[in-house]
Amino acid sequence: VIDIRKLYGQTGMFTFDPGFMSTAACESAITYIDGDKGELLYRGFPIEQLAVNCDFMDICYLILNGDLPNQEQKADFDSQVTHHTMVNEQLHFFLRGFRRDAHPMAVLTGLVGALSAFYHDSTDITNPQHRHISAIRLIAKMPTLVAMAYKYSQGQPFIYPQNDLSYTGNFLRMMFATPCEDYKVNEVVERALDRIFILHADHEQNASTSTVRLCGSSGTNPFAAISAGVACLWGPAHGGANEACLQMLEELQANGGIDKVGEFMEKVKDKNSGVRLMGFGHRVYKNYDPRAKLMQETCKEVLSALGLENDPLFKLAMELERIALSDPYFVQRKLYPNVDFYSGIVQRAIGIPTSLFTAIFALARTVGWIAQWNEMLSDPDYKIGRPRQLFTGSVTRDVPPMDKR
Ligand code: ACO
Repeated sequence: VIDIRKLYGQTGMFTFDPGFMSTAACESAITYIDGDKGELLYRGFPIEQLAVNCDFMDICYLILNGDLPNQEQKADFDSQVTHHTMVNEQLHFFLRGFRRDAHPMAVLTGLVGALSAFYHDSTDITNPQHRHISAIRLIAKMPTLVAMAYKYSQGQPFIYPQNDLSYTGNFLRMMFATPCEDYKVNEVVERALDRIFILHADHEQNASTSTVRLCGSSGTNPFAAISAGVACLWGPAHGGANEACLQMLEELQANGGIDKVGEFMEKVKDKNSGVRLMGFGHRVYKNYDPRAKLMQETCKEVLSALGLENDPLFKLAMELERIALSDPYFVQRKLYPNVDFYSGIVQRAIGIPTSLFTAIFALARTVGWIAQWNEMLSDPDYKIGRPRQLFTGSVTRDVPPMDKR
């Protein structure tokens, strides 16, 4: 806490808290995390129970509305989402403006932002109905956009949504079907991907969610605010960690695999190497990330169902975890696996390319972002987000004439 009278001659105090280590920027009733216990609740329900008993549509309803849906509410919600899965055909032309080798997160940032140019019928953010329809549109269209970005990168035709499939089954079909052959959704794969969506649906005031809130606090268009969240999520310290984690495992496998794990860990512990153990550590969890445990289970299930029990990357990840959990460097700093440590292995086994991992994360997190945005706007006293600064630049000085500079 800084006495700003000494700094600026103004009255009052403010906190200087780089990285917002101990500053709450809002009130929220959506997600609760106890980082020391390794506990995560959506609207009061433990993630372990939700992951086993619910599908992603239940979770979306829960996060948006505050409680789990009954059968009728679920059917109505499913139908609302299903009826908004198509994107405007004009968006295809927008997509075609990108290079085919563009990073999917660059493409997704652009496509989601572009949605703001399409929905002129729901731009009154003070109207709860407009906010609701924007939320439904975003949740419904995100899988279509991610699959379109993937198909475009492959030079393959887009596959349109098939609305008698589940949310996740439909996404898998849009990703992997071709017009030349039938595509049957594998139930184990569908369940695994659905669990990835559930585990990534919300995580209180992380960097991308705070970005959506800050951006949305100016009253901007919701699609523009979510596009800002996608951009923030891309970074390797946040959503990009799953991609970085799998790249790390692949590199380690190519350079000696399990035999070189000890050497690699020495590099991780050497502060001058600049190498971190990706998928480890978390700003809030100072215990095992509960999502990582669930993801490890899913990983085992999927690998076994697909006949990949001996997957070398999974074995490598287990060995890294085993060593890290008993190494004083990690123990003292309370560094445990986070959700990204195993999610990349699952996605790779499903056939999702590494460069698309963060886009899948964005798809799942969209419900959290839009629910948090809606919660902020529903508060009659919400204010535009406007952090202060601790100024460290020059004191007042005169502009010298050109010949004296
Ligand atoms: N490997 C090695 N050392 C680490 C790691 C890691 N993955 N994470 C943290 N440390 C060390 C730091 O070097 C630091 O050591 P020091 O105290 O000796 O200086 C200490 O642990 C604390 O680290 P900070 O970076 O200060 O912790 P912070 O809370 O700011 O960062 C973060 C959290 C960014 C997630 C960090 O742990 C990290 O970079 N992890 C790897 C990337 C990753 O997996 N990100 C995914 C996060 S989860 C998500 O977004 C879904």
